[in-house]
Amino acid sequence: MTHKQHPIGTGFTAASTAADVLAGIDLTGTNVVVTGGHAGLGLETTRALGAAGASVTVGSRDPDRAAVALAGIERVEVSRLDLLDPASIDAFAGAMGLIDASGRPIIAPERGLKTPQQGAATIVFAATSPLLAGIGGVYLKDSDISPLDEDPRPVVFGVDQDVPADIVPHAIDPRSAQRLWELSEQLIKA
Ligand SMILES: NC(=O)c1ccc[n+]([C@@H]2O[C@H](COP(=O)([O-])OP(=O)(O)OC[C@H]3O[C@@H](n4cnc5c(N)ncnc54)[C@H](OP(=O)(O)O)[C@@H]3O)[C@@H](O)[C@H]2O)c1
Repeated sequence: MTHKQHPIGTGFTAASTAADVLAGIDLTGTNVVVTGGHAGLGLETTRALGAAGASVTVGSRDPDRAAVALAGIERVEVSRLDLLDPASIDAFAGAMGLIDASGRPIIAPERGLKTPQQGAATIVFAATSPLLAGIGGVYLKDSDISPLDEDPRPVVFGVDQDVPADIVPHAIDPRSAQRLWELSEQLIKA
């Protein structure tokens, strides 16, 4: 019988910490749920994911007590959740805007809540569409070339806001691209 149950040589050890395994991983723009994320290993998980840039929602049976334990950690919010109570689980998922009143996943493609088929569309469009023949080096969104956001809002960390999805002017600035190329060459040489 073949199986995958073999160490892959991660380089981590029994003494590695959550911060160690997150080194070099940027979770900015990622939303994470940590059940019991206010105590024990859950609290350390919340701290580590938050420090890596994630926005964390902690589900707790006692939100007030959880909020005290989480004081001072950035980008964390608390919502009531008792994993032994199905009604509480539905309310928790509903409060996160992920399911509707009948418990079905909310599909709102314009807000990024897509079906897997909708989520795959831009990938397949990029790989195959004759509409992109002769066009390269562009950012795509919703199976088209992304519009340019000429007046981007600054992203303020620690504030609950949608991360802008449109392309900002500096992303297509040829001088910045040239500087990035030269810097990358220097780093590779070093
Ligand atoms: N795979 C591994 O390598 C590994 C290693 C160690 C531990 N673990 C697992 O990791 C988990 C955390 O361990 P720990 O030592 O940090 O445990 P812990 O200190 O007892 O924390 C458990 C957390 O779960 C919450 N909780 C318990 N019942 C709940 C419910 N019905 N609804 C919502 N939240 C509930 C608790 O909330 P309250 O504060 O409200 O009680 C608490 O925050 C455990 O499940 C443990 O078995 C896995």
